[in-house]
Amino acid sequence: MSTVTAPAGPTVHPAGDNLLEITDLVKHFPIKSGSLLGRTVGQVRAVDGVTLSVRRGRTLGLVGESGCGKSTLARVVTALQPATSGSIKLNGTELTTLRSGQMRGLRRQVQMVFQDPYGSLNPRRRVGSILGEPYAIHDGPKGKDRQQAVQQLLERVGLSSDHYNRFPTEFSGGQRQRLGIARALALRPELVVCDEPVSALDVSIQAQVLNLLEDLQDEFGLTYLFIAHDLSVVRHVSDEVAVMYLGKIVERGPVESLYSRPRHPYTNALLSAVPDPSAAAQRGTSTRIVLTGDVPSPAAPPSGCRFHTRCPKAQDLCSQEEPLLRPTPEDPEHVFACHYPVAAGEPLSIGTWSESAQAAVPRRAPSPARTSITKNREGSA
Ligand SMILES: Nc1ncnc2c1ncn2[C@@H]1O[C@H](COP(=O)(O)OP(=O)(O)OP(=O)(O)O)[C@@H](O)[C@H]1O
Ligand SMILES: [Mg+2]
Repeated sequence: MSTVTAPAGPTVHPAGDNLLEITDLVKHFPIKSGSLLGRTVGQVRAVDGVTLSVRRGRTLGLVGESGCGKSTLARVVTALQPATSGSIKLNGTELTTLRSGQMRGLRRQVQMVFQDPYGSLNPRRRVGSILGEPYAIHDGPKGKDRQQAVQQLLERVGLSSDHYNRFPTEFSGGQRQRLGIARALALRPELVVCDEPVSALDVSIQAQVLNLLEDLQDEFGLTYLFIAHDLSVVRHVSDEVAVMYLGKIVERGPVESLYSRPRHPYTNALLSAVPDPSAAAQRGTSTRIVLTGDVPSPAAPPSGCRFHTRCPKAQDLCSQEEPLLRPTPEDPEHVFACHYPVAAGEPLSIGTWSESAQAAVPRRAPSPARTSITKNREGSA
């Protein structure tokens, strides 16, 4: 058997330390005039001062409406695009100043799973060639050893070693996403950035892929930055959740605290849009907050709190002064940026994963890592 195969077991690190630390991260895209000289006439402020951290072996969910900058953040963290400014540290190493030669090492440590399993795999290449490529680029096993490594990866993600000679077009959507996950795992990364990895899949297939991601996390000690529109999916997989609006984080916190007691009206509105009659009944309300209008352009974001143009609670101050992130009284790890936060008892329904997905694959018991987070929180409360 090959010695370099699927990812090895997790390295033991001090509990609770941060694998990824993002500080004041900015990614602006210049808007060019139509003239020949192509002068810069403005900036799309896709990511505009984001500070986040992800604990080793845990999952940070990132949610927000379309266009709020989630994928841009993912691309900058995985060095597919350079940052405009700010800091990204992985294991304490600054990534934004790495030279191209040093990027090779980073590529081993940080991998991405993309939303579109159809578009992210070359249809003209066989599975063996697609999954063997990371080994070819990074001086991994060769020849028969490489084939064995790829076949073990295939089996680990729930496919068959016989799939080695197939083309991506011969797989279903869920199977292709398993291929995408296998490719991401080939180099034994520490951080996997999942950008909407199940959005293109049927609900029952979503559940299987999510459970695979969780199993792989437990087995290999992976750390995930997990991006999704669907708050119920994010709740299912995350230890902590960050809510993004127009390039900024407006609320962040441990999953239970944020979902049961959101403070930012934007989080509240997103949660209220997730259908969950039982939770609504429990709280004696089935009120849904409807967010009207589109997300404003990130080329000209509103003054003060960027959400004020759509916020049901906005007052004069909100357009004048940008609220800073501050902790909730109950939990210092739960922070929000709002002048007039949601009070207890305001209309809210708690999101859960859709019923059909739950029926297909029930939620697992918390992993030891997640349990210890809960214990820590209880201990500090
Ligand atoms: N290369 C680029 N050049 C110019 N603008 C860009 C570029 N990439 C992204 N943007 C803009 O940045 C903003 C954020 O885009 P991004 O794709 O990060 O959003 P998102 O939150 O991932 O949305 P979705 O949920 O639809 O995937 C959008 O206004 C988008 O048009
Ligand atoms: Mg996106």
